[in-house]
Parts: sequence; C-alpha cells; structure tokens
Amino acid sequence: MELPSGFGLLGRVVFGIRRPRQPILGTELAGEVEAVGSEVTTFKAGDRVFAFPGSRMGCYVEYRCIPATGPVAMKPANLSYEQAAALCFGGSTMLDFFRRGALRSGERVLVNGASGAVGTAAVQLAKHFGAHVTGVCSAANLELVRSIGADQVIDYTKDDFSTSRQTYDVIVDAAGTAPFSRSGRVLSNGGRLLLVLASLTDLLKAPLVGITNTRKVIAGPAAERLEYVHQLGQLATEGKFTPVVDRCYPFEEVRAAHRYVDSGRKRGSVVIRSPKGPVSKFAITSEVHHRLLAPTTVRVREDM
Ligand SMILES: NC(=O)c1ccc[n+]([C@@H]2O[C@H](COP(=O)([O-])OP(=O)(O)OC[C@H]3O[C@@H](n4cnc5c(N)ncnc54)[C@H](OP(=O)(O)O)[C@@H]3O)[C@@H](O)[C@H]2O)c1
Repeated sequence: MELPSGFGLLGRVVFGIRRPRQPILGTELAGEVEAVGSEVTTFKAGDRVFAFPGSRMGCYVEYRCIPATGPVAMKPANLSYEQAAALCFGGSTMLDFFRRGALRSGERVLVNGASGAVGTAAVQLAKHFGAHVTGVCSAANLELVRSIGADQVIDYTKDDFSTSRQTYDVIVDAAGTAPFSRSGRVLSNGGRLLLVLASLTDLLKAPLVGITNTRKVIAGPAAERLEYVHQLGQLATEGKFTPVVDRCYPFEEVRAAHRYVDSGRKRGSVVIRSPKGPVSKFAITSEVHHRLLAPTTVRVREDM
C-alpha cells in the first residue's frame, strides 16, 4: 500500500502489521436493499441506496450489511449507481476539511490537485459555499476543472501558483505538493491551508504554524460523519454536486483498476462493478455478509 511520506510504520499499525486487517477493500458502494432486519423501519427491500463505510472499507462485495442508522442513504434519483458509488470519498473529505477550515462565502480558494476525487469535490463544494475557486491541474484536465465550476484554472506544468502575486484565503492541497513551506507565501492573513495529503513531518508541524503566524494549517484524517452522507445526497439531488467518475472496471479487473489509481493520473473516482453471474470464489464473501443480517441492519446488493 502506498502511504504519504513518513507513514510507513503508522500505516502498518492502523491497517495491519503482517497482512491487511480488513482484507476486503472498497470505501463506498451503491445498490439496492435486498433485505432488512426485523427492527428496521427506515428502509425496505427494493430501496436504491448508497453507503459510505469509509475507513472500515469492505465494499468490494456483492452483498454488504450496514446498520440502518449507519452511513447509508437513499440514492439520488438523478445519479447512476456508478456516480452514487463515488459520492462520498472526496465529498465527505472536503465537507470535513471546509468545516474545520471555516470556509466562508466570498473567500478565494485554491485547489491543488483539482482533477482527483478530492479535488473535483473541493472545487464543486467550495463553489456551493460561495467561494471564488482556482483549480490547479495539468493541461489535460483544465477543461474538466473549468466544467465543474472553477472560476480560474492554472496549469501546474506552466505556471507556479506559489510565486504569483495572487493570494488565497483557503488553499486545499490534495496532491501533496503544496505544503506550508511553499503555499505560505500566497496565503492571506488569517488564511487556512488544508493539507488533505500531508507527509508525517508536515502533519506534526501543522499545529505549530498557528502559534507564530496569523495563518493556520489543518491536516490529519477527515472525520467520517453520517451528516456528510446525508448532505452529499441532498446536494446531488439538487444538482449542486455531481461526483466525477473516470472509469468503471468489472470486478475481475480490480487489479488493473488499482494499477490505474496508483498511476496518480485518474480524474475523479474509479468505480468497480460488483461481481455477477456464476458462483466464484467471491461468493464465499457474499455468503459471510449474507449471514450477518441483524435486526438493525439492512443488506444491500451492490447493483451496477
Ligand atoms: N486526509 C484525509 O482524510 C484524506 C481523505 C481522502 C483522501 N486523502 C488523500 O488525498 C489524496 C487525493 O486523492 P484523490 O483520490 O483525489 O486523487 P489522486 O489519485 O491522488 O490524484 C489524482 C489527480 O492528481 C493530479 N495531480 C498529480 N500530480 C499533481 C500535481 N503535482 N499538482 C496538481 N495535481 C496533480 C492528477 O492530475 P494530472 O494528471 O493533471 O496531474 C490527477 O487528476 C490521496 O493521497 C488520498 O489518500 C486524504
């Protein structure tokens, strides 16, 4: 697993020392409720839903049981299952960082890495909150970033935002190339640097910046809150946030999907279609999840 610089040991403690603690990857899903527990009143079989187990993962499955009061909500009717399965990773991350960074309407926001899952969510949500947004990406992605609402775009292969005269109230770094040592000079007084991707050194230094400076650095894992799942569903329904899906891979090509993500070149999210058809070794997993239906859970059949 590729982790930000300095996180090797910590990553093993969190994700498993000798092998992955959670062997089934996948942070979010979309599908149809196939069955509900005897105490569940908020969902019924046939409901179309999306869900965000997040860091608990376990979404590369055909069936997944989720507490009915957990991170599951009705799928916005205007989104495909593929889009709904990509609603939360970037969206929930940026709702949390913008909350911690107290983003206000009218502020100038720069998003570094504006074409990834986090970046495309950052651009759209910052616009929704009333900010003026500048997206930083390569030439190939300028049009995409403009199309999702960025007021200005900067091609990082030609121009360096950190040496221009323009300052920003909030800088989002989703690419890991804009730490405080680089971004600080274009952060306005009272400005906040949101390090979605930070090295361990930059993470540890983050609280110290505010002691000697009017600017703040906010880093660390984003909280995964139920309210974000509902908020993203609502924003998508209203057409204010549409997740960007780059490619969809069949389950059998999950390795190719991961290789593509690891290239660092994806635009928005990559979606895996759930396995279908003849029983495969995967059915064992499905079967385990199948048996887990408790009185308070819903069982979702991933449907894409
Ligand atoms: N702190 C948290 O809780 C949290 C939560 C979620 C995600 N994350 C982290 O956030 C990071 C972003 O994730 P992601 O899924 O959005 O995308 P990603 O796969 O890391 O990024 C893909 C995008 O990054 C762009 N990019 C690459 N190098 C760049 C550079 N030097 N400057 C600007 N853009 C550049 C690429 O565009 P080009 O091809 O145009 O270069 C591509 O579109 C990941 O490292 C992830 O682990 C952290």
